[in-house]
Parts: sequence; C-alpha cells; structure tokens
Amino acid sequence: MLVNKEAGEIQPLQPAQAVSLRPLVEADLPAVLAIEQSAFLIPWTRASFLHELHNPHGRLLVADEQGQVIGYFCNWLVADEVHILRVAVHPDHRRRGVGRLLLQATLAEARRCRAHSASLEVRRSNLPAIALYQELGFCQVAVRRRYYENGEDALLMVCAFPPDNNMLEMKSSGEP
Ligand SMILES: CC(C)(COP(=O)(O)OP(=O)(O)OC[C@H]1O[C@@H](n2cnc3c(N)ncnc32)[C@H](O)[C@@H]1OP(=O)(O)O)[C@@H](O)C(=O)NCCC(=O)NCCS
Repeated sequence: MLVNKEAGEIQPLQPAQAVSLRPLVEADLPAVLAIEQSAFLIPWTRASFLHELHNPHGRLLVADEQGQVIGYFCNWLVADEVHILRVAVHPDHRRRGVGRLLLQATLAEARRCRAHSASLEVRRSNLPAIALYQELGFCQVAVRRRYYENGEDALLMVCAFPPDNNMLEMKSSGEP
C-alpha cells in the first residue's frame, strides 16, 4: 500500500502496474486537456496538441488505466536529440510511478532510435518534476533566466546516454 505523499493524506494508492502506455489519439484530447488545465499555469490548447499530433517530429503517449487517461507525455525526436515538451499526471494518480513510466518509455525509445541525449526545461520551483528528472539521470546544465511568462527561471536539464549504448545495442541485435 502506498500513501499519497503529495497530498499528505492517508489514502491508499495502487502502484502503476495496470497502467499501459499507448500513442495519444485525438479522442483522448478531452481527458488530456482536463489534466493539462489542472497541471500547468499556462496550459496548452486543443490546437497545440493537434499541432504536435501532426508534427512529424512529435511523439505523444498516454498512460491508460482501464480506459481512463491518467497521464500523458509529448516530446520531439530531432536527429539524435530528444526534447521533452510536456509530461503530466492526473492529480489523483500522482506518486504511483506513472510519470516515471512515461519518461522511462520515452528514454528507452530514444535509445532505440540512436539518440544521444534528452533535454527539457523545467520551472525552478517545480520540485516534484525536478526530483523525477534527477531520479532518471537528468542533470541541470544551465539556467534560462526569466524563461516563463511570469518571469520565472527555467532550469535546462539534460540526460546524456552512455556513448557506447548504441554500439552495445548494435552488437546485441547482430547488426554490423
Ligand atoms: C511531475 C509529475 C509529472 C510527476 O508524476 P508522478 O506520476 O506523480 O511521478 P512518479 O510517481 O512517477 O514519481 C517518481 C519519482 O519522482 C519523484 N517525485 C515525484 N513527485 C514528487 C513530489 N511531489 N515530491 C518529491 N519527489 C517527487 C520521486 O523521486 C518519485 O519516486 P517515489 O514516489 O518512489 O519517491 C506530476 O507531479 C505532474 O503531473 N505535475 C504537474 C505537471 C508538471 O509539472 N509537469 C512537468 C513540467 S516540466
């Protein structure tokens, strides 16, 4: 049994074992937008998500639990770099490992696609997200001063994949 540490309540939470990840489709947008509005000061609109759905570099995933969208993720994969644009989990489902699941899946796909690193910007005050990124190997490499509309700084965080990662994968897959 887990406790919802974020809300400080004694409320049982189940780990994200029954959660599956799949590509985001247009029919998911009402649920995604509801989470987006609860999660961000300046939420993306339906048009923003549609734009990313049609962007050849865009990759969007949802975390689905018994038909309910409880989280989502959006990134770009351009050349050998992944840039993470959006990750959010429904407030009732946080601290169940869903954010970790979404990020791990993205990083694994990035490695399969021979990417060398992943990067993102995060508000300096967003301690839950910073803790999640650090856990998965991201390090702060720069500060973008007054990056956000309210004047808040962004931390630029990068996760560099091991240089021999691609070679190991090539060897194990039998490719030359
Ligand atoms: C950031 C966010 C996506 C994390 O999602 P989540 O599903 O709750 O995170 P997980 O349960 O996978 O947490 C994995 C680890 O991250 C860290 N973490 C996550 N939330 C945390 C919090 N509130 N406080 C401290 N550490 C936290 C912990 O190390 C946690 O591991 P643990 O639960 O075993 O201690 C979620 O809080 C969210 O949607 N926030 C609003 C949107 C947002 O800020 N997105 C990021 C924009 S850059």
